[in-house]
Amino acid sequence: MSLKRKIVVLASGSGTNLQAIIDAIKAGKLNYVEIAAVISNKKDAFALERARSAGINAIFVNPKDFVSSIEYDKNLIKTISNYNVDLIVLAGYMKVLSEEFINAFTNKIINIHPALLPDFGGKGMYGKYVHEAVLKSAVKESGCTVHFVTAEVDAGPIIAQRKIPVIPGDTVESLSKRILIEEHKLLIEAIGKVFVKVGT
Ligand code: GRF
Repeated sequence: MSLKRKIVVLASGSGTNLQAIIDAIKAGKLNYVEIAAVISNKKDAFALERARSAGINAIFVNPKDFVSSIEYDKNLIKTISNYNVDLIVLAGYMKVLSEEFINAFTNKIINIHPALLPDFGGKGMYGKYVHEAVLKSAVKESGCTVHFVTAEVDAGPIIAQRKIPVIPGDTVESLSKRILIEEHKLLIEAIGKVFVKVGT
């Protein structure tokens, strides 16, 4: 029987944050963690490819197979419950979770957001829109946040943050690139923090 803490990662995109977790486990930084599965709502998500390459269960769940988002999430709850997980990590999961899902895993879902919450978060604040808003507002700092997921989008308790300066001439691309590098470190730090809190 494995005594490792089990996590499931939900990802819709390239999965560099997922890769950071895989690499940290391999490097022994999170050697008490095991990724039970990576689940995506996008068939072509490179995150699934990364999971397969690392020998991790890679599961695509097609939204078209469900009559509603709620039904989709009910199925997700079932799938994830089978793994008996300690933590669900949203690493670029571009689908809003239903309250049903969030309530099924209270205090067990964390999300990484590419800005300094509570600023630049909430509905519609994802991907490039976050960085566009940051640049438009002319703030001097941005960064990334890992927080617990609650019913209100991007408003759950903050676990950890990293800041970076916004440099004159920054574009969405340059800013998001620098923040992503910080995200990879922050996510590992935050997962460690969550497990220390609940006792590894
Ligand atoms: C990250 O910027 C994350 O903050 C946001 O989506 C992006 C995912 O990137 N939620 P990746 O798929 O981990 O490369």
